[in-house]
Amino acid sequence: MDSKKLIIFDTTLRDGEQSPGASMTKDEKLHIAKSLERMNVDIIEAGFPIASPGDFDSVKAVATAVTESTVCGLARALDRDIDRAGEALKPAKSGRIHTFIATSPIHMERKLRMKPDEVVEQAIAAVKRASKYTDNIEFSPEDAGRSELDFLCRIIEKVIDAGATTINIPDTVGYNIPHQFGELVGNLIKNIPNSDKAVFSVHCHNDLGLAVSNSLSAVLNGARQVECTINGLGERAGNASLEEVVMTVRTRQDVFPCDTSLDTTQIVSTSRLVSTITGFPVQPNKAIVGANAFAHESGIHQDGVLKARETYEIMRAEDVGWSENRMVLGKHSGRNAFRSRLTELGMDFESDEDLNRAFIAFKDLADKKHEIFDEDLFALVADDDAHLEEKFKLVSLRVCSDTNKVPDADLVLSIDGEEKSSNAGGGGPVDAAFQAIEVLAKSNTKLQLYSVNSITSGTDAQGEVTVRLDKEGRIVNGHGADTDIVIASVKAYLNALNKIHFTMDRQHPQHGQV
Ligand code: KIV
Ligand code: ZN
Repeated sequence: MDSKKLIIFDTTLRDGEQSPGASMTKDEKLHIAKSLERMNVDIIEAGFPIASPGDFDSVKAVATAVTESTVCGLARALDRDIDRAGEALKPAKSGRIHTFIATSPIHMERKLRMKPDEVVEQAIAAVKRASKYTDNIEFSPEDAGRSELDFLCRIIEKVIDAGATTINIPDTVGYNIPHQFGELVGNLIKNIPNSDKAVFSVHCHNDLGLAVSNSLSAVLNGARQVECTINGLGERAGNASLEEVVMTVRTRQDVFPCDTSLDTTQIVSTSRLVSTITGFPVQPNKAIVGANAFAHESGIHQDGVLKARETYEIMRAEDVGWSENRMVLGKHSGRNAFRSRLTELGMDFESDEDLNRAFIAFKDLADKKHEIFDEDLFALVADDDAHLEEKFKLVSLRVCSDTNKVPDADLVLSIDGEEKSSNAGGGGPVDAAFQAIEVLAKSNTKLQLYSVNSITSGTDAQGEVTVRLDKEGRIVNGHGADTDIVIASVKAYLNALNKIHFTMDRQHPQHGQV
């Protein structure tokens, strides 16, 4: 074990996907996984294979496509979960099974209804089962942040003896405070007799806004793996943000005894890709990846930066992938230029057919908009629904917006291959278009969120729309992009309806009973 190396374990595709509405298709997961691999992320947690056949397929596809990073699958401490994870990871060049069981008194008593001794036995059995598939096994005592130190020491010693090679300490509910969490990790490493046989890892949630601080405090106390997500996506308030952890450690090498091997210049493009695919925008003042993270508004700051950038800048924008020259392609760019820019951005195509379809969409866009930016390319790829089965497809739309009339929409949809038309009025053109969709779809969903974001600047910019629908408690995000925001809105609404229709119900790893 190299004590100077900090292992980065990205869980955007698993815990990140547990954010309400952030569920991703297999292709979307593949795009993000390739981008993480390009960034040199050590381990990519690709999903929870037992959750549904779709989740199994996604983990298997990532395990097949990714060769430079280890690919990990999550499993409760149950034989059926572990077997499913082992199966999904079979194609991986390097695979890891991550198994977990809750160890806090409240979780053991109220959720699992198990005695501590039974929990220990089940954890040992799970690790032994996982060792039939791989010798790269991670064990997490869920809710470790509220578990008793003595019990943690007991169970961790046993699972290391059983074959666990990474011990992950989760602050599942984001309850810990940095000095306390650091001390917990330090005490575990000090008191567990065989702790030198495993890498200690941390997995912090951001309910109190402390996920990054808690993770870094644990690193200062001996943890050598941090579990994190791009843009801090994740269950509830999210997980520790990868970009903040990585850049803090890199920038403060005077404080940290270790560093990651990440190519940090890939951070901004990966952040944008994740934001576009999930429909979760990045706030402008977000550290590292927010639009304002390196912008200097005040005259004093600008003057200082011009004289010597170190006066106000502790990192270089280009080190995390911000570049000045963002105009990349235009109407006359050919297929090769298009493909190579997408490859540079971490987006590869599975087949020539996929490339051709994206290239046609690019040419259509270039006809409407002269300059195509990286952001437009992300939206274009995220908007490609070819691999998502589509019950509802937009055929045509006409909306009328007039100062003296109620806006109305004439819509033609293809539903299961049959064309149907409708007309509806509404409070505005978008409302009218959504009402016209509902006349035909009768989806019985509630619109939870509608947001429009301008992808780039200028009035010819594409509008990127996110629509979040709730159907009986199942939440999905749909996205759509177009230079016409009403059409982008309709695309997003239909995308959400198609996802509701075709994505199966999935199990949540932490809600079920073990
Ligand atoms: O937050 C958590 O405890 C988890 C575990 C499955 C590691 O996500
Ligand atoms: Zn978690």
